[in-house]
Amino acid sequence: MNNFTLLKEDTFENSLGEILQLNPKTEKHTILLVDDEVNNLQLLRRTLHHDYNILTASNGKEALEIVEGKGNEIALIVSDQKMPEMEGTEFLKRTSEYYPDIVKILLTGHLDVDAIVDSINDCHLYQYIVKPFDPEELKLTIETGIKKFDLVNNKTVILKDLRELFYKTIKLIASALDAKDPYTHGHSLRVTMYSLILAKKLNLDDTTLEEIETAGLLHDIGKIGIPQRILCKPGKLTDEEYEVMKSHPAQAEKMLMGIKKLTVVSNWLRAHHERWDGQGYPYGLKGEEIPISGRIIALADTYDAMTSTRSYRKALSHETAIDEIQRCSGTQFDPVLTNLFISCSEELRAAKEDPNTYYPKYSYLQKMINETR
Ligand SMILES: [Fe+2]
Repeated sequence: MNNFTLLKEDTFENSLGEILQLNPKTEKHTILLVDDEVNNLQLLRRTLHHDYNILTASNGKEALEIVEGKGNEIALIVSDQKMPEMEGTEFLKRTSEYYPDIVKILLTGHLDVDAIVDSINDCHLYQYIVKPFDPEELKLTIETGIKKFDLVNNKTVILKDLRELFYKTIKLIASALDAKDPYTHGHSLRVTMYSLILAKKLNLDDTTLEEIETAGLLHDIGKIGIPQRILCKPGKLTDEEYEVMKSHPAQAEKMLMGIKKLTVVSNWLRAHHERWDGQGYPYGLKGEEIPISGRIIALADTYDAMTSTRSYRKALSHETAIDEIQRCSGTQFDPVLTNLFISCSEELRAAKEDPNTYYPKYSYLQKMINETR
């Protein structure tokens, strides 16, 4: 049996625990204060140090170095405008390039409308305050700025959590489904991995890659309704049993049809047993009538079925499986996709040997989660 251990690691309890994990953030926020006048810097610090962690810098360059090292920790910056070496607006503008979500407040000694308007646009300025400032007014402005930071930050966190929840949930469903039969352990995840290897060669857009990964993971979800005695039967299925088994692509489509985000995916799921020559099921679609995801998953599904041990036969070698796929090009499989699939032969072999290492490398959904800051 293949050594795909995702199900073992993703036990229901662990996975649900991870899915439901909450990360409350209760620490003080960090504020960077920048001013070349020592008295001003001290007044700012006195005003704010009870409620916030304070970092200070006496000029723009020094402040930029702090941002480079600790940008991820900083929620808000209060910067003076007129400073030697680098003006406040220049410093805030540079900070915006890397940390657009840090809330920025400019202190200015001059009521220069043009400079203020320019800085609002260039630095994504949240607020400006004319010196001398009223400490209570400054505190209030900072409080509302911090609320804005939390709002933006929480939105990002929620988006990341939702993506993660979706991804882990469908992975869990796929693992649970494969666990119904010891001989299909890890099947859905490997089929998805092989599908993504092929999909990447086609330079498909991000949305299509996401849908192919989802479709791969859920491609056999319709088997949930197939009785265990048919699913795990060691011998040949009777005609009647085969008819029941053949209903799983249409069942999958029905199951997911009501979920808006999965409308395209549900249309694709029904197509993974269609054949290029029109002899497949359930609808007997032919050639390019079969959605591309269905044609991709058909190749990946067959490769995995052949290279895995089943109740009725031992696993075939990678070479034998590739030869068989080549033989069925133009009848069972799309000939163009078959050539491309075979051109990935070495990647497929490596991924088959070590799916736990290779799946995350090809996973589009995992990449999206990693990239959501
Ligand atoms: Fe299937």
